Amino acid sequence: MKERNIKIIWSNSNETFVSEGDDWFSSAEKAGLEIPTGCLTGSCGACEIDVNGVTVRACISEIKNNKECLLRVSLTSDPFWEK
Ligand code: FES
Repeated sequence: MKERNIKIIWSNSNETFVSEGDDWFSSAEKAGLEIPTGCLTGSCGACEIDVNGVTVRACISEIKNNKECLLRVSLTSDPFWEK
């Protein structure tokens, strides 16, 4: 069983613990958020999120750990991000 050792602080202030390699969509769902989607192939940018200040396309990325085991996630511009 994978160790859930990465803490994510989401834009709605919820905190979840995930494992390296988990996908962004199901992890966001556990935090009560829905990442918008479009093409699901990495070309449209609808799923862009901000992870510790770096823009990531959620549909073509998986969660990667960092030294602090802490990721702060937000969406930079979509007002429909938070429910
Ligand atoms: S859904 Fe289009 S880039 Fe991710």
